[in-house]
Amino acid sequence: MESLIRTIEILEDAVRLLDQRKLPTSEAYVTCRTVEDVAEAIRTMIVRGAPAIGVTAAAGIALGMRQVSHESESDIETQFDSICQRMAQTRPTAVNLFWAIERMRACAKPYLDGSLRRLQEALTLEAHRLWRQDIDINRRIGEHGLPLVPPQSTILTHCNAGALATAGYGTALGVIRAAHFADRHIQVFADETRPFLQGARLTTWELQQDDIPVTLITDNMAGYFMREGKIDLVLVGADRIAANGDTANKIGTYGLAVLAKEHALPFYVAAPLSTIDRSLATGAAIPIEQRHGDEVRLVGSQRIAAADVEVANPAFDVTPAPYIHGIITEAGVAMPPNSATITALFEPTQMP
Ligand code: MRU
Repeated sequence: MESLIRTIEILEDAVRLLDQRKLPTSEAYVTCRTVEDVAEAIRTMIVRGAPAIGVTAAAGIALGMRQVSHESESDIETQFDSICQRMAQTRPTAVNLFWAIERMRACAKPYLDGSLRRLQEALTLEAHRLWRQDIDINRRIGEHGLPLVPPQSTILTHCNAGALATAGYGTALGVIRAAHFADRHIQVFADETRPFLQGARLTTWELQQDDIPVTLITDNMAGYFMREGKIDLVLVGADRIAANGDTANKIGTYGLAVLAKEHALPFYVAAPLSTIDRSLATGAAIPIEQRHGDEVRLVGSQRIAAADVEVANPAFDVTPAPYIHGIITEAGVAMPPNSATITALFEPTQMP
């Protein structure tokens, strides 16, 4: 039986989030009661992972709009706009955030001139729909990825692309879950994923909840284990995929893809269609978030470098499409990923 990890809960007067900064030592929840609370939860990575921040932003917009009133100095449309803008300022790389905001904008449009109550109801329903759809999509990603996972294989993953990074089930970890529950007897190697340690803190915890065998390694061990013949394939998530298949994902992903190519190992990306940004021809235009240097100078609260040492901390890198064997989505697998196979994913005939 799969565990039920409640990453995001949409309540009547709040958005409740599992505090991912505290895992695995404590399973604490943060209750966001305002738009500002939700925006700060995304910025500070209480909630993280591309689909999860999209769903959280949608829930935050619906929450914010349930709190507006006609008494305010600005009109309803202006208030709605400023809430959407606040959400858009939180993190720059994962396109699911902007995709979810656009979904909320499209949902609001027919109601902006009408009754506030109907607008509030429509946005609340849409946020719940996004939450549910995300889990369904991840299950379909799992089904499409399953044939790519040979029995008894050992899969290397990076960062956390699991239930914690989505509304539930996960993308890369969704494929891993599908393989595990289909009795493929797989094993997982999880990179610790410096500097924020999503692999060490989140992926290992999440896989342990489902009794999926997992071995934690530091990021610099991946090449060693590939050379030893201990890894059969690499499977990661994505934050933004350009129209040609170039993929932005957690920093370190590109290095893994290069290592996988050197060792002739398949390298797969699992992501929903909402992660594909067809407005960008290549990955060169993907904005890369630069995070605070203290994430590198410290491990947890422990300082490991001089307080004034210069630090570079890009949170993501871009893996060029030729390094990727396939992009696994809810509409099928783009294999090999290129403009044509990616365009085909969006053709109605591809959709199940
Ligand atoms: O900085 P994070 O933790 O939000 O980065 C998350 C990742 O890079 C994930 O691999 C990606 O969002 C895929 S999540 C299904």
